[in-house]
Amino acid sequence: MDEIFERKDEHIKIAVESDVELQGESLLDEVYLIHYACSEVCIDEVDLKTRFLNHEFKAPIVIEALTGGTKLGEKINRMLARIAEEYGLAMGVGSQRIAVEKREAEKSFRVVREEAPTAFIIANIGAAQLVEERGLEYAVRAVDMISADALAVHLNLLHEVLQVRGDACFRGLLSKLKLLVKELNVPVIVKEVGYGLSKEAAVALRDTGVHALDVAGKGGTCWSKIEEIRARRRGDFTKVRLAKVFENWGLPTAIAILEVRSILPKIPLIGSGGVRTGLDVAKVIALGADMAGVALPFVRLAYKGDYSKVLEYVNTLILELKYSLILTGCRNLKELREGRRYVVSEKIVEWLKQRGITL
Ligand SMILES: Cc1cc2nc3c(=O)[nH]c(=O)nc-3n(C[C@H](O)[C@H](O)[C@H](O)COP(=O)(O)O)c2cc1C
Repeated sequence: MDEIFERKDEHIKIAVESDVELQGESLLDEVYLIHYACSEVCIDEVDLKTRFLNHEFKAPIVIEALTGGTKLGEKINRMLARIAEEYGLAMGVGSQRIAVEKREAEKSFRVVREEAPTAFIIANIGAAQLVEERGLEYAVRAVDMISADALAVHLNLLHEVLQVRGDACFRGLLSKLKLLVKELNVPVIVKEVGYGLSKEAAVALRDTGVHALDVAGKGGTCWSKIEEIRARRRGDFTKVRLAKVFENWGLPTAIAILEVRSILPKIPLIGSGGVRTGLDVAKVIALGADMAGVALPFVRLAYKGDYSKVLEYVNTLILELKYSLILTGCRNLKELREGRRYVVSEKIVEWLKQRGITL
């Protein structure tokens, strides 16, 4: 098997089978929603509908970019696309670099549009591909391949550094993003992959004209952990060490959302990185995100191939989100987002203070 196909499946298997999370580091546990004991909101009147990038969603949930390219990726994509269609959620595909380079890999991405003809589907390429000479052409091909509603460009600088053979150079990124926004006929979302976006990064990205951001903060899937396992298997101890040194790198999800919102109050924003429960979804919305993104739990469930388990998970997320609204006295997401119904711990306050951000 080609190295790129092998790498794709290896990433998934490690993510499914090993401990690859930075538990507690998202700092979502340090965000407390305010309980409202007099809430008269009942479950039948809770409205989870939301608009994002001119599309209406039944619930503010994004199945984050995960996979594609191999038979295993195809199976996972097919199952997750069915869920996105059934529940009116957004779904990202994994990096399409593999299919841009090898046409036989296209099918594993196309199945997403077959299974989800009306869902909001997000194509995906990496910054490393975008900055290549043919980067814009790759982006257009990725979007066309699945008739995508938007394109996500992932910024995975540290991941590239840690990968056994990574492309850790994004020279020309911001000017290329500017061009991309002009050339592409769908909105561009820029996302991290688990290390978070700071306010400085958000401003630089805003200046390129990109339409939305996804913070993908620290506290969920940790690529340093995944690449440490891969490097160890290959006996590359320089990379093992590097991965360990940078294991706790990045902006926690809760903080990344507050940083971005402090400087860009209006930009369409996805809060992700360690979002696992409906309460986590409620917290990222309360902090200011428009949508919440979840990756690892979906790949773990879809890998097992039991559609009913994925369904059960989505139903649970939605139920927990509804109860979070009821318990804070909110009828809809706008009330939760705009009502300032949270407090944060000293740890978060201290970070914000040092960064010159007032809540
Ligand atoms: C197995 C796996 C593969 C991933 N592949 C991609 C990818 O190809 N492109 C991308 O933008 N993000 C990719 N991600 C990152 C996720 O989209 C997400 O940003 C990150 O995992 C944080 O979310 P989580 O904590 O809910 O997992 C991948 C994540 C996992 C677990």
